[in-house]
Amino acid sequence: MSKNHVSRRQFLNYTLTGVGGFMAAGMLMPMVRFAVDPVLKHTGGSDFIATPQKVSDITNVPTRVDFTFTQQDAWYESEVTNSAWVFKDDKGEIIALSPVCKHLGCTVDWNADKANPDHFYCPCHGGLYSKDGTNIPGTPPIAPLDVYPFQEKDGYLYLGKAEPRKEA
Ligand code: FES
Repeated sequence: MSKNHVSRRQFLNYTLTGVGGFMAAGMLMPMVRFAVDPVLKHTGGSDFIATPQKVSDITNVPTRVDFTFTQQDAWYESEVTNSAWVFKDDKGEIIALSPVCKHLGCTVDWNADKANPDHFYCPCHGGLYSKDGTNIPGTPPIAPLDVYPFQEKDGYLYLGKAEPRKEA
């Protein structure tokens, strides 16, 4: 007969350790799951956000288009409203510019400076941009306005995430 028999004390130790571990795992799993849940969640869907702007209504005059979407920040969900200046250029192509000034982030307005008509104007420090979003030398902004990629779906304009303009 083998001398490797398990004593009553060892048996109880093994059993209690096993049961304790099983119970601890049962308690910890929901906590771990809760902690990493936003990371595991698949957001899915498109990165383009619907706007109320009908593509057929876009003219060559920049029009401010506001659009709202739900932003998920870890466990916090909030409604965010962004804007774009949307128009058609001389070739009839749609341009959607970010209104965020590239100097210190104020909001630019179209045609708001009487001394510089047909420009985007930033009231914070007098920043100026031409209609295509190019910053005017001699004013504070040091880069062109960001550009939204866009799509057309069911006749409406959808906008992606604004990005710095790519130089040709
Ligand atoms: S923030 Fe626009 S010019 Fe300074």
